[in-house]
Amino acid sequence: MKVAVVGFGMMGRQIAQVFAQHGHEVAVTDESKQALTTGIDEISNGPFGIRSAIAKGKLTAEEGARALQLIKVAPTIEEACLDSDLVIEAVFENFLLKQKVLHMIDSISPRTALLGSNTSTLGISKIALGVDRKERVVGMHFFNPAQVTKLVEIVKGEQTSQDSVEQASRIVQMIGKTPITVLDEPGFVANRLGLTLYVEASRLFEEGVATIRDIDLAMKLGYGHSMGPFEVADIVGLDTRLRNLEALHQQTGDEKWIPPKTLREMVNNGYLGDPSRRAGSKGGYYEYAKSIRPN
Ligand SMILES: NC(=O)c1ccc[n+]([C@@H]2O[C@H](COP(=O)([O-])OP(=O)(O)OC[C@H]3O[C@@H](n4cnc5c(N)ncnc54)[C@H](O)[C@@H]3O)[C@@H](O)[C@H]2O)c1
Repeated sequence: MKVAVVGFGMMGRQIAQVFAQHGHEVAVTDESKQALTTGIDEISNGPFGIRSAIAKGKLTAEEGARALQLIKVAPTIEEACLDSDLVIEAVFENFLLKQKVLHMIDSISPRTALLGSNTSTLGISKIALGVDRKERVVGMHFFNPAQVTKLVEIVKGEQTSQDSVEQASRIVQMIGKTPITVLDEPGFVANRLGLTLYVEASRLFEEGVATIRDIDLAMKLGYGHSMGPFEVADIVGLDTRLRNLEALHQQTGDEKWIPPKTLREMVNNGYLGDPSRRAGSKGGYYEYAKSIRPN
């Protein structure tokens, strides 16, 4: 299968790597030249990259080299999509941008191609407004880090055909993941639940009820979560968390999605999460928490 990934940031890279590791040709493109260069380097040398997978015995050296060969940088979106069977957009979480990019993808990719969006909070039906073949647009929501996480939400927009949903589900299974099918509601299922927990955890912290570490421990030891809500936020990226909440608040008008004050302060001050995963970040909850509320 030929896959095109449009938007080669944090998620685009991970998605491209997963498809390549499963033997698919992937053309990647981004409007930023820098993103293309750092993206390829991250796929090779990042914390969940190919070198690390080889070191952990998850890939042989030959499989790793083959996967890297399968990823090709395309200088333009046209070249990336030219003969693709599946196009996945992973550009910034912004309605107008995604609408523009999907409209473009629709006009340049083969008529048979499935058009996937990795949006985490925006409505698929709205993103697809300017697309001719709306029945081929489907949400394919991967989770960070996609090399490791097993879930992909398949989002059925108002006009997405059942055939497209089934095709997307088969593709997801082919790359070793488990699809769940969800309707096009703000936040879908996983983020609506995950962000609810995160907002409530932030409220507990801001009210001084418990420390960040102890709130995380409550969910890990009490509920068997592998990570606490603050650990997840550090990995996902605090700027991404903020954008997700703003998008949910904007779409629903529900006050429960108003971003926590501490989150906004951290993002404004350059604390974007785990610096090893968010270039240029000054740190995440654990480092930052010490300076505003000592344990
Ligand atoms: N970060 C996460 O944990 C996460 C998880 C699941 C889904 N998502 C979703 O994935 C998408 C991407 O998020 P991200 O965290 O990878 O963002 P990111 O900021 O790391 O990357 C976005 C990339 O899109 C590129 N881009 C912007 N406009 C473009 C255009 N017109 N053409 C080509 N490329 C363009 C940017 O240059 C950038 O490299 C968003 O919709 C987000 O909600 C993010």
